[in-house]
Amino acid sequence: MMSVGQLERRIIIISVVFAMTLFGLAALAVNLYHVGLPTCLTDIKPFQKGELIAHSPTHYELHYVARMWKFEPEDVTVPAGSTVDIYLSTRDVTHGLILLGTDLNLMAVPGAVNYARVKFDQPRVYQLLCHEFCGTGHDRMAANLRVVAPAAFRAQPSEPTAPKTAPKPVDSVSQLLDAKDCLTCHSIDGQESIGPTLKGIYGRKEKMADGSTITADDAYLREAIVDPDAKIVNGFDGVMPKPELTKKEVDEIIEYLKTLK
Ligand code: CUA
Repeated sequence: MMSVGQLERRIIIISVVFAMTLFGLAALAVNLYHVGLPTCLTDIKPFQKGELIAHSPTHYELHYVARMWKFEPEDVTVPAGSTVDIYLSTRDVTHGLILLGTDLNLMAVPGAVNYARVKFDQPRVYQLLCHEFCGTGHDRMAANLRVVAPAAFRAQPSEPTAPKTAPKPVDSVSQLLDAKDCLTCHSIDGQESIGPTLKGIYGRKEKMADGSTITADDAYLREAIVDPDAKIVNGFDGVMPKPELTKKEVDEIIEYLKTLK
């Protein structure tokens, strides 16, 4: 018969061996299979801008910024054989990032940056998805990461392609809407979202929360942009913040809205 002391010692030895085996396997996975351990970095400021930074032809730093409801950058290309240090931040609520076909799984937590290293050996298109429910657009929150043969990568037109001509007004207004986060809540393709869609808004008859009906003319749109709480469209919540826009920008936005038929 084993004494209680012997039994206890055995249990302790077994659990220590078990824990060490787990750590050993994790270390092996990191070194042998280049699996990056996700790390939450609280000492660096969350990134506001998504970008790919090349440190060498085979080493990249990739800053993903998650926001309702997209990842920036949405389309990234790196050459096969490269090691990519992925940093994930969020500009609004908590999001998740899973890179399908890899072990990469990170959380985008407000105020922190999450990090993992991934090595991409073979050309392939990976899809990344948000796996944390983050609102009505959660299921469309996706992006692509393309791993291409090094020769194909070098043949790419070198980024950033400088615009050869001044951007057309329509482009700059839609960029302005994006920069001011308008498109987070207002679609331009007719999709339901937090706010009414901007598609076909000019001249549209809207039923308001107070029971009245208005026609979205210049005066109404101007008011709806500069003082969003003045009138609320029926069925929506008055959650839009007052945007910081110059009068000229408001004029341009109204002209742009007229084109969204
Ligand atoms: Cu972001 Cu779900």
